Amino acid sequence: MTTKNYTHYINGNFVAAVSGETFETSDPYTGRVWATIARGSSADVDAAVTAAKNAMDGEWGTYNASQRGKLLNRLAELIERDATRLAEIEVRDNGKLMAEMSVQTKYMAEWYRYYGGLADKIQGAVIPTDKADTFNYTRYEPLGVVGMITPWNSPLLLLTWKLAPALAAGNTAVIKPSEFTSASTITFMELFEEAGYPAGVVNTVAGFGEEVGAPLVSHKDVAKVAFTGSVSSGQKIYESAAKDIKNVTLELGGKSPNIVFEDADIEAAVMGAISGIFAATGQTCIAGSRLLLQHSIHDRFVERLVEVAGQANIGDPKSPDTHVGPITTRPQFEKILEYIAIGKKEGANCVLGGEPYTGPGAKGDQFISPTIFTGVTNDMRIAQEEIFGPVLAVIPFEDEEEAIDIANDVDFGLAAGIWTNDIGRTFRLSEKLKVGTVWVNTYRAVSYTSPFGGYKRSGLGRESGVDAVFDYLQLKSVWIATQTSVRNPFVIA
Ligand code: NAI
Ligand code: MG
Repeated sequence: MTTKNYTHYINGNFVAAVSGETFETSDPYTGRVWATIARGSSADVDAAVTAAKNAMDGEWGTYNASQRGKLLNRLAELIERDATRLAEIEVRDNGKLMAEMSVQTKYMAEWYRYYGGLADKIQGAVIPTDKADTFNYTRYEPLGVVGMITPWNSPLLLLTWKLAPALAAGNTAVIKPSEFTSASTITFMELFEEAGYPAGVVNTVAGFGEEVGAPLVSHKDVAKVAFTGSVSSGQKIYESAAKDIKNVTLELGGKSPNIVFEDADIEAAVMGAISGIFAATGQTCIAGSRLLLQHSIHDRFVERLVEVAGQANIGDPKSPDTHVGPITTRPQFEKILEYIAIGKKEGANCVLGGEPYTGPGAKGDQFISPTIFTGVTNDMRIAQEEIFGPVLAVIPFEDEEEAIDIANDVDFGLAAGIWTNDIGRTFRLSEKLKVGTVWVNTYRAVSYTSPFGGYKRSGLGRESGVDAVFDYLQLKSVWIATQTSVRNPFVIA
C-alpha cells in the first residue's frame, strides 16, 4: 500500500517540517499505517504565527466585515462540494462512521454561513455618558492570532466551532490538530486558498502536544487559545496562557447524566440512552455516560436497553449498516479497558459487553463491545471520571431531589438529558442542573445557532450561537471631546 504524505500549511503553502521529520498515522479499523504527517516543532510554530501576524497586519486587516462574511459563505460552498471527500478521510483516519460523517461534514458548512452572516452585524454602541461635551462609543476589534488546538474525536467540526466565529471577527488562526487525526484538517486547508483567503490567515502545524501545542500556546504573538480536549491538557494550557494573560476558550469533556423518570416514554428514552453512550462509539464529550433510572422502572428499562444495545452492529465504519465502529486510538482503547476493569473491581455489575470485541465485522484489534454496568453508585470512579468510550454506568434513584443531587455530584458540567412528561419537572430540573446544555426528551442535539460549553471543569467560554463571536473580540471604548477646553490636569475627567 502506498502511504500518503501530509504536510503543514503555512502562509498559503503546503510545507514539510523544518526538521524534515514525519510521523505515522493509522486507520483504526484495519490497524494499518496509511499516511505520514509532518512532525512540527517550535520552528514551524514560529513560521506559522509570523504568517498569521503578518496577515493580520496586511491585506486581511483591511477587509471590512461584509468582505469577511462573503469569504465565509464561499468557503461554506466549497465545504459542501467536498463534504464526501473530507468525510472519507475522517472515516479512514478516525474510524468514525461514514453514516455520521457524511452528514457532519455537510452540516459544518452552516457554521461558516451563520458566522458569515453575523460578521457585519456586530456593532458597538454609543454610550450615553454623564460627562458634558463628550462623545463615547465602543468598537469591537479582533484579538489577533488565535491558536486552535483540536482533539481526535471530531476534528473538523470542533475546529469549525472555533474557526468560523474567529474569522468572522477578523482574527487569523494557527491550528494544531490532534496527532491521531491530522489528515482531514490539512486537506481542509486546500479550500481556503480556493475561497480567496489571503495567505497566512489560516495555517496548520501538525504534530504532538508538547512539541507543537505547547509552543503555540506560549508564543508571544498568539493572543488567544481555543482548545477542546482533556482536562489535564486544558489545565496546562490555561496555566501557560496565564503567564501572558491570554484569553482562552476551553471545552474539556464531561460525565453527563441522562435522567429517566417513571413517567417518561420508555422506548424513546431507551433510544436516547443508547444514542447518548454508544453513538460515535462513546467517544464524545457529550456522552450520556451516567444513566440515572428511577427505581420503579429500573429493571424493565435495563432489560430493554441490553436487548437493543446487544443488537448493535459492530464493524466497518464505512458500511452504512454499522452502528459502532472501532476505538480511534490505541491509548484510548487501553484506557477504556482499564476503566472496565476498574468498574468490575469496584463491584459494579457488568450486564453487557465488558471486553474487546472480536466477533463478526471486526478487523484490526481496536474494538470494544458496548458495555453496561448496573448497580453503580455515584462515588465509583466509573461514575466520576470521563471514560470516553462505549461504557455506560447505570445509577438508580428514588425521587427528583435525589436525581438532581446525583446529577450534580461530579466535577464536570457539560450536558444533561431529562426524560419525563411532567412539564413542571422539565423547568425545575433545567434550572437546577449545573450544566451548559439540557436536553429534554432528546439527546445529542447541537446546532450552529445554540451556545455550547461547560460549567465547572467542563470548560470556559461558549461555542456556537451569537455569543461565541464575542469570545473572539475585544471591546474598545473611545472618548471624544466635543468642545475643546483647558482642564485641570490633576483631576479625573
Ligand atoms: P488531549 O487533551 O491530550 O489532546 C487534545 C489536543 O491537545 C491534541 O491536539 C493534543 O496534541 C493537544 N495537547 C496535548 N497536550 C498539550 C499541551 N501540553 N499543550 C498544548 N496542546 C496539547 O487528549 P487525548 O490524550 O487525545 O485524549 C485523552 C482524553 O481526553 C480522552 O480519553 C477523553 O477523556 C478526553 N478528551 C475529551 C475531548 C472532548 O471533546 N472534550 C476530546 C478528546 C479527548
Ligand atoms: Mg489515525
